[in-house]
Amino acid sequence: MSLDALLENIDKSRIPRHVAIIMDGNGRWANLKGQPRSAGHAEGVTAVHRATEFSSDLGIEYLTLYAFSTENWNRPQEEVDTLMELIGWAIERELPELLANNVRIRLIGDIARIPESARMRLLNAEKATAHCTGLTLGMCLSYSARWEITEAARRLARKALDGEISPEDISEADIDASLATAGIPDPDLLIRTGGEERISNFLLWQIAYSELYFTPILWPDFGKEAYAEAIIDFQRRERRFGKTSAQIQNQ
Ligand code: IPE
Ligand code: IPE
Ligand code: MG
Repeated sequence: MSLDALLENIDKSRIPRHVAIIMDGNGRWANLKGQPRSAGHAEGVTAVHRATEFSSDLGIEYLTLYAFSTENWNRPQEEVDTLMELIGWAIERELPELLANNVRIRLIGDIARIPESARMRLLNAEKATAHCTGLTLGMCLSYSARWEITEAARRLARKALDGEISPEDISEADIDASLATAGIPDPDLLIRTGGEERISNFLLWQIAYSELYFTPILWPDFGKEAYAEAIIDFQRRERRFGKTSAQIQNQ
């Protein structure tokens, strides 16, 4: 189906507020073309550009992208170096357009671990777009959910030791507010490209009630049509949050 036809099938009154994406398959995309893995990552940047544009156009409020996991530090050093350079370079190049489109960058992860040159460019983009009120683009870098939950536990334990909170009073909202995603609503839709059907340590707390969508399309090939299909699939689902179907329909 053409993009226009797909767009007609999207119910504009039921757009997910927050979409999270595990962008997987860059390496395999490059392999299939007989190119180095870095070529797949470079093409992956184009796919990020497309997904950001599409999210903005649809009126999605939050797009959260898994770009580099804590576990990805264990890849060959050469690939890690190339990825870090690419991320720094891409954010700098995209910044004018992000600003023009009112996109706010939010860094999510152990950013202190990112090599300085990329880190400076990322922090600069976050600061430069802090006033933007359109799409919030969450970039998960050096991120894993277990890292984040461990950090949250430390933060809350410190507060308890300092007498700011009592352990009995710790609520789900307190945990939410201690996560790297504080202030961002939970994802409505989680997409994973690249064919694997696993979560790989992404947003474990936040996806408790997200709709999951897996597609074999490799990330560099994930275009607006594929994104539109994911939204249409999401809109066909009934989110019951533990209730019965009848309860939901009577709401
Ligand atoms: C996703 O693509 C990008 C990152 C994890 C940085 P991969 O690099 O994991 O690609 P595959 O899974 O090997 O194809
Ligand atoms: C998940 O992809 C992390 C990102 C997309 C950044 P991986 O390719 O690292 O996941 P696994 O290791 O195959 O589960
Ligand atoms: Mg992968």
